[in-house]
Amino acid sequence: MQYLLGIDLGTSGTKTVLFDIEGNTICSKTIEYPLYQPRNGWAEQDPSDWWHATCDGIRYVITKSGIDASEIAGIGLSGQMHGLVMLDKDGAVLRNSIIWCDQRTTKECDQMNKIIGERRLIEITANPALTGFTASKILWVQNNEPEIYAKCAHILLPKDYIRYMLTGEFATEMSDASGMQLMDVSKRCWSDEILSKFNIEKSMLPKLYESPEVTGNVHKRAAEITGLCEGTIVVGGAADNSAAAVGTGVVRSGSAFTTIGTSGVIYAISDDVSIDLQGRVHTLCSAVPGKWTVMSCTLSAGLSLKWLRDTCCLEEMIEAEKLGSDPYIVMNTLAEKVMPGAGGLIYLPYLMGERSPHPDPYCRGVFFGLSASHDRSNMIRSVMEGVAFSQLECVDVFREMGVNIKDMIACGGGGRSAVWRQMLSDMYGCPVSTIKAEEGPALGAAILAGVGAGIYDSVESACDKLVSRKSVQYPNDSDQKVYEEYYKLYRKLYADLNESFKHLSNLPK
Ligand code: XUL
Repeated sequence: MQYLLGIDLGTSGTKTVLFDIEGNTICSKTIEYPLYQPRNGWAEQDPSDWWHATCDGIRYVITKSGIDASEIAGIGLSGQMHGLVMLDKDGAVLRNSIIWCDQRTTKECDQMNKIIGERRLIEITANPALTGFTASKILWVQNNEPEIYAKCAHILLPKDYIRYMLTGEFATEMSDASGMQLMDVSKRCWSDEILSKFNIEKSMLPKLYESPEVTGNVHKRAAEITGLCEGTIVVGGAADNSAAAVGTGVVRSGSAFTTIGTSGVIYAISDDVSIDLQGRVHTLCSAVPGKWTVMSCTLSAGLSLKWLRDTCCLEEMIEAEKLGSDPYIVMNTLAEKVMPGAGGLIYLPYLMGERSPHPDPYCRGVFFGLSASHDRSNMIRSVMEGVAFSQLECVDVFREMGVNIKDMIACGGGGRSAVWRQMLSDMYGCPVSTIKAEEGPALGAAILAGVGAGIYDSVESACDKLVSRKSVQYPNDSDQKVYEEYYKLYRKLYADLNESFKHLSNLPK
């Protein structure tokens, strides 16, 4: 028998999944680790925690499944994007990794715009200067820890540090590297202009591959620690969102997925590079060789409903406990009883500021239209609708850029809710489906490994074979019309409140 290993290095833990070549999960293990927040707005992780979680996960799935490690035909890595790992000339980690959700680099983003020019930066890297992306984190270390920067010989992304530990190779692949803001994204190579202006030596950066390409082989020491066979191939793999796209079959233009997790991500495939010069959404290289992706990231999607649950829905939590159910299921039932429009209540989901399509650290959440007739059911429905409107605003930008979406897959915790999926379908005006496999990024990484190992001909044909749908929902005409009216007002509210958000941020708290 042949097997494939998909390793997804997430923010809360690393998930290692062993698949057979039909895409069935044979064994899966998630090992968690801490997130360090040394200051407000900072977010760091220790790369050695990632490595230990990976080794333990690999050993677990090999032992538990009882397979022979020589039957593993290839390994694919997927991981949280944008994190900065710095190594010295001997390959030792120089400081904790500054990860994707760290917000310390506002000054460095201004510095980037000043050095390169806002428009030129978007033209080359396909994205505006963002605190979340890697380049501003590198500049922060240059500015604030020059003694560490002086010792830095290698810059890697989180999953690529695992590749280094497994194979000894300094390598990355297009989908993750394009989130570093150091690439010429249209040409799929490092940008000499960006690197020279930011004083970053090209020799510090890993070699660039396409996602299914073989980047190295497991070396002797890693084999001894993990139980893998020496020589097992490790392919490029992909950024978590790109790997999720492969794992959900989103590999051709016209198809896209919406993830409602803590944040809300929409990810669509495009055959050509399409860049939003206003920087409202991200353009990145796709894990499918020669294709690109447009991606949006709203910061408080599932987080909005979680916030409502924790602050206002104690009764629903007690009810769920009595029923042996999940509070979100009880909340869904309440939302279902309210008509579209939530009885005249509109929610703006800006609890953490926003990234797409309004990169704005100052905006905050709003309930607009509260009346004495409203209760928690209206608020629950309104939060779900507000999150869906915020996704629609991103889809509208995609469509403006010529990236058409005809078919949407729903994933993440929020994607399990049929009410929420119906809202998305009504608002997007296209079918919204779920898929059977729940392993998302780990499956995507394993599929890429299978292509690299020669088991599948291409990423697309592997997805056709391995990824199948579970349910599909279609737009409802009359609800669609109601949402259209509410959406006009939803959009106007951000514009109307823009200045007031800034004013609020300056008031004493
Ligand atoms: C995407 C992003 C997140 C991380 C976390 O731009 O910042 O989705 O990849 O997993």
